[in-house]
Amino acid sequence: MAAAVVEITHVKEFSAAHRLTSAHLSERENRELYGPCYRDHGHNYVVEVTVRGRVDARTGMVMDLNRLSVLMDERLIQKVDHLHLNHDVPFLAGTITTAENVAIAFWRELEPALRAFKGCKLHRIRLHESRANLVDYYGPSRA
Ligand code: NI
Repeated sequence: MAAAVVEITHVKEFSAAHRLTSAHLSERENRELYGPCYRDHGHNYVVEVTVRGRVDARTGMVMDLNRLSVLMDERLIQKVDHLHLNHDVPFLAGTITTAENVAIAFWRELEPALRAFKGCKLHRIRLHESRANLVDYYGPSRA
């Protein structure tokens, strides 16, 4: 019998400041498009990382969720928590810090660290910017 495929998810919170501004738009266009988000403000973000893979017969796990937790801390949370996403985070330099772009950047930061784990793959980055708004990113091959 083939090993069952399961998706496992670890969730973390962080707080960060940002503002939305596009170099492709004039100041007036930025103001009109982004409204209050054109100003510096903050969010209490929630990031969910989902890994998909086979349940290992030896361990009963897809991947040790404690290992995933440590990787998320090292690769993501420590680099953004209580910082300004536009100014303080090298891997976001030059990007419009929408939830979409932050989720894509998180994928790029985290995915290489997960390649060492056999039998599973990063499946989804879900980023909640607020209770009402969230985005999902499934990686570059799922466009
Ligand atoms: Ni915002």
